[in-house]
This record gives sequence, structure tokens and C-alpha cells, in this order.
Amino acid sequence: MTSAPTRQHFEEAAAAIRGFSPLQPRVALVLGSGLNPLADQVEDAVVVRYGDIPHFPVSTIAGHQGRLVIGHLKGNPVIVMQGRAHYYEGYSMQQVTLPVRVFRQLGVEILMLTNAAGGLNKQYHTGDMMLINDHINYVGMAGENPLRGPNDPELGPRFLDMSRTYDRELRELALAVATEEKLPLHQGVYVGLAGPTFETPADVRFLRMIGGDAVGMSTVPEAIVARHGGMRVMGVSGISNVAIDVIDGEGEASHEEVLEAGALLVPRMTSLICGVLARL
Ligand code: HPA
Repeated sequence: MTSAPTRQHFEEAAAAIRGFSPLQPRVALVLGSGLNPLADQVEDAVVVRYGDIPHFPVSTIAGHQGRLVIGHLKGNPVIVMQGRAHYYEGYSMQQVTLPVRVFRQLGVEILMLTNAAGGLNKQYHTGDMMLINDHINYVGMAGENPLRGPNDPELGPRFLDMSRTYDRELRELALAVATEEKLPLHQGVYVGLAGPTFETPADVRFLRMIGGDAVGMSTVPEAIVARHGGMRVMGVSGISNVAIDVIDGEGEASHEEVLEAGALLVPRMTSLICGVLARL
């Protein structure tokens, strides 16, 4: 697809998904790097490969299975993305966020976004989780926003408020679950970068200075498009590594490290997400 996808594309993709499963999902869950096994919890699952859905972007990255899992999780009809496409893979912001538009067409009300992220906050350790309470749209500030271009008023407003992006009630539910189940959950600001390079030590010190607690290469465009469509958003980062802030320090960032931390994070993330779903 060369030009930006339109409502017709979203409707075609939604119709194809309805052909695989008649379930009307209430919640959509996007699983980031290393977190795909969370979908194993879905009951009565129907699995659809992204490649079998017209216009759906296909992830090219290890740790992203590229499948939709449709079924029930803690009594809620859900549609789960095992893996996502990223801007750094060469997709446009509109392509990256097409699944969110399609979920809206399917009637989804709540979008739960997960990702693997580097910890900027010095209190954060590998394996911790961070409830996203706000984000810094670094790529958007440079001009690449998924809402750039003609606005379809049927989909949402031209100018979008972003002061309540991460739903307060959902955040309160997540905090309650974490307290009850003794899960390590911070709250903080996610910085969305384009990737695919990891940050330099100077980048890390800068991102910390501007108020970032965790840094990653996804989530922000999806949150924007979900809010544009009037969905409620929750976001959780799995801290897969601690961002390196000194030159010539020990260790280096790698995708393998991110996936390994995923194994540690899956049970925690599963408890948190399932706990919230059970209380919806
Ligand atoms: N930086 C950017 N993106 C990431 C990181 C990181 O350290 N870890 C996982 N995704």
C-alpha cells in the first residue's frame, strides 16, 4: 500500500476478521517484544495470521509472532495481537496504527498496549513493570504523527486533546491489582522514539532530563489513534533492560536481552493484565 489507508481499508480488514470469528471483542490487547505468550491464556481461541487479513502490516521482527488471537480472557471478549509492526520496519505511521483503526471498526472499547522498554528512571530494574501515565511523542514532535494528513471526521477530530491519554480508571484498577498481587509496578512517562538504534548514553541522559522514565519504539502512535477513535487506553511497559548512560560502560543493549527479559516479564504481565480484565 503506497498511499495512506482509509476507512474502506479498515472496513475490509474488519470484515475479514469477522469472517474468521463472529465474536464482538470489547478489549484489544497488543503484546510487545517477548510478551507474545500472554495470549496462551485466551480461551476458545481462534487464531488468524496477519498475512491473512487484507491491509494488515506484518511484523518482520523476532519475538513478534504476527497473529491475532480472538477469544475470551477473564470473561471478556478479547482480540489479542501477538506482535506489532513498527515504524522502523519501514511502515508509515498510518500503516503501523491500522490494526487500532480496525479494532475500532470491530467495536473495541478498550485498548491495552504492552511493550518492552528500556528503563531510564534510576529506580527501575530489569523485570519491573511501568504503568504508563503519560508519554512523550518524540517522533511526533519531529513531524511524524499518525494523524498527519487529511482527517476523516467519521473516525475522529482534526485536533485531538492528549491530556487524558491513559485512562484514569484503568490506571487505578492496574495499581489496585499490583498492590493486591504484590507485583512490581512503577508509574511513569514513556518516551516513544523511532528506533531501530538503541540510545547513546547522551540520548539516555537527555531523555531522563526531559522527564522520561522508560524508552521504546512503539505504543505512542497506537495510543494516539485509539484516543482519536474514542477508545480508552491502558499502557504497560515491561522493563527489559536498563538504558546505559555512560560511555564505554559495561554491557550493551541487544534485542536478545529484550526477549530474555520477556520470559521474566510474561508471568507478571499476565497477572496484571488478567487482574485488570477480571475487574472490568
Ligand atoms: N531502548 C529503546 N527501545 C527499547 C529498549 C531500549 O533500551 N529496550 C526495549 N525496547
